[in-house]
Amino acid sequence: MDHIKNILLESDANQIRHIFHQAKDIKQNTLGHDVYLRGLVELSNICTKDCYYCGIRRSNTSVKRYLMAEDEIISSAMFAFEKGFGSIVLQSGERSDTKFLHLIETVVEKINYLTSRQLRITLSLGEQSKDTYQRWFDAGADRYLLRIETSNESLYNKIHPANHCYNERINCLTALKMIGYQVGTGVMIGLPYQTINDLVNDILFFKEMDIDMLGMGPFIEHSQTPLFGQPIDIVNSRLHLFELSLKMIAATRIVLPNINIAATTALQALDPLGREKGINAGANVIMPNISSPIYRKDYLLYEEKPCINDLADDCFDCVIKRIELTGEKVAMFSNGDSLNFVNRQRRKT
Ligand code: 5AD
Ligand code: FES
Repeated sequence: MDHIKNILLESDANQIRHIFHQAKDIKQNTLGHDVYLRGLVELSNICTKDCYYCGIRRSNTSVKRYLMAEDEIISSAMFAFEKGFGSIVLQSGERSDTKFLHLIETVVEKINYLTSRQLRITLSLGEQSKDTYQRWFDAGADRYLLRIETSNESLYNKIHPANHCYNERINCLTALKMIGYQVGTGVMIGLPYQTINDLVNDILFFKEMDIDMLGMGPFIEHSQTPLFGQPIDIVNSRLHLFELSLKMIAATRIVLPNINIAATTALQALDPLGREKGINAGANVIMPNISSPIYRKDYLLYEEKPCINDLADDCFDCVIKRIELTGEKVAMFSNGDSLNFVNRQRRKT
């Protein structure tokens, strides 16, 4: 606990470099030099939730809402498959109406059929009922990402409306694990009211929940959200926020050597080399956006999101080059299952 806190509070540049090095070494010794690619498809920005930080929240009436057609989603998945990505992430705003549940079920089944189940499918579609999670799992989804956003319940309540429930999110994470998904979670770093102790507890939460995958990144204000302009105590500059985000990656890697940790796009919003620096601090996953540029500009969870005008192919080429700069190797045609998950499955059998 003190060790994690010391890492997060470290201010000496040499010491920080040393910590990043140590985290990358641990990653290499546990998981090798591979970095995995996940093609991210932002299939819809229609959302029934109203989180105070998020640009596509229901109350933001200036967002042009879209839902990709079934064949568009499937062709994005096939692009990823043919390019040699081991997996895709289907992400969207949260909806739980029957039409949406069926669309996802059908899309998952069809992608599995077309790829002979050679492409891991990760869903990132928010809180759903146990039944829905089970149906999507039965259709062939392998992994699920649901960020806890913060493990501090009272902070959670400050950044969400009263009808968004912390315990419900915990129940969802528990249900996903029970069903047999590889489960990912994550938090935002640099939220209003957040403290260093909260971040330390976030890492302990990841450990306690025995999570398999992690996606966390800096909180970036969006002008059309209620959290815009709120005082932030934990960092005093964007540079500091960026460094703290990297320290969170490094500290988590040191505590949890065998999970998959993503270098998220939000890191790149703060620094043009953000994702590479994430890899150099112990991350082992990059999620290139493979959504069509027609939709990207409408999926702004936060402003200054990078790559919104790029084509999927450009993002792919750029990511490969960027990973090579870190001295790591892009693992093509590899599903990149989380070692933590593989070990858990082994213990069960
Ligand atoms: N800044 C950074 N991350 C954000 N997210 C939503 N809004 C923001 C923001 N303003 C993240 C949340 C959510 C994920 C899909 O995007 O953590 O779970
Ligand atoms: Fe909850 Fe977008 S409205 S994360």
